[in-house]
Amino acid sequence: MTTNPVKVPFVDLKLQHQPIKTEIDTAIAKVVNKGDFILGQALSEFETAFAQASGVKYALGVASGTDAITLGLRACGIKPGDEVIVPTNTFIASVIGIIQAGAIPILAECDRNTALIDLTAATKLITPKTKAIVPVHLYGQMVSPSQLLDFAQTHNLIIFEDSAQAHLGTTEGYIAGSVGKAAGFSFYPSKNLGAFGNGGIVTTNDESVAQKMVSLRNYGAPKKYFHTELGTNSRLDTIQAAILNVKLLHLPAWNQQRNQAAQYYDLLLQPLKEEDIFPITNITGEGHVYHLYILRLNSHLASKREQIQQQMAEKGIQTGIHYPIPCHLQPAYKYLGYQVGDFPVAETLCESILSLPMYAGITQPQIELVVEELSYIIKTC
Ligand SMILES: Cc1ncc(COP(=O)(O)O)c(C=O)c1O
Repeated sequence: MTTNPVKVPFVDLKLQHQPIKTEIDTAIAKVVNKGDFILGQALSEFETAFAQASGVKYALGVASGTDAITLGLRACGIKPGDEVIVPTNTFIASVIGIIQAGAIPILAECDRNTALIDLTAATKLITPKTKAIVPVHLYGQMVSPSQLLDFAQTHNLIIFEDSAQAHLGTTEGYIAGSVGKAAGFSFYPSKNLGAFGNGGIVTTNDESVAQKMVSLRNYGAPKKYFHTELGTNSRLDTIQAAILNVKLLHLPAWNQQRNQAAQYYDLLLQPLKEEDIFPITNITGEGHVYHLYILRLNSHLASKREQIQQQMAEKGIQTGIHYPIPCHLQPAYKYLGYQVGDFPVAETLCESILSLPMYAGITQPQIELVVEELSYIIKTC
């Protein structure tokens, strides 16, 4: 098998880090010299900065985005046996977080155009046990805060936002992570704000949630060697926080670059609409931070998706699928009792989506090349 030189990678972290290498090296060296690797000064500084940037009072760093959901839900008072609504069209960690908190994930359908949770369909899932909703701001686009707040108020639910893909995303005057009782973010390296390893954070305006997080992430100990609840070890490393603090300053510009890249894709891809190929709809305009740029293929092309990806790869263009199997059809979650056909919109989306290269710094000629090759491959498919 021949490997072709990559002309347009799916993400390019080297490109992102190269210009800020000195700043990052200095930040790391500061932590190394100080030696406060766990719950150190740079973590507090980053937590303050991230909370401020996200428009909330508190932010508590944890070991991953998955832990942010698990511990964040527990800090919000979610208990074993509670039902928590979550879209089936998400990365599996949204569901894992709910299960690890002891709750029961109640999967919901998504909207065909935005791929976000369908709140009208979710209304039918409400039972006396429903305690919370975990809306996922998928691909960098926020679920409408006004609709969410209305939904939560009507059914007396806690909102816990899965903001893993939407750092500093905005809509309707809200910043991602500031809409609900609390929210979880991931700092997985390829996220809009990524660490040099794993990391996550919980944001909240609620002091009691923040206090609970301080304890839960630190062995359930509000003070040293005094354990009042079943906690765990899940802290964001000081070194990661120091790196993230440097990167946070660049995030607004990077998000803007992603949004502009998406607009250029939208423009160049317009002719493909005639072939029934559409980008996922942007209903939030400038506030969409485009963690991913995703197309819906027509049914003929969807059946040839693997071949299209292979041909793109041969031209040096990396693509992805986010995500190929909806959560309700994942083998490990069979015990939840869902079947093929339960969520037809999400199932069709999973079969027909294609993620194009997207990262801060992707150039216009690269985008032109992606669209040119894709258009050619589609026509000859
Ligand atoms: C929507 C969503 N939720 C949760 C997570 C979990 O984050 P992590 O990988 O940091 O545990 C991710 C990313 O991986 C994600 O994309």
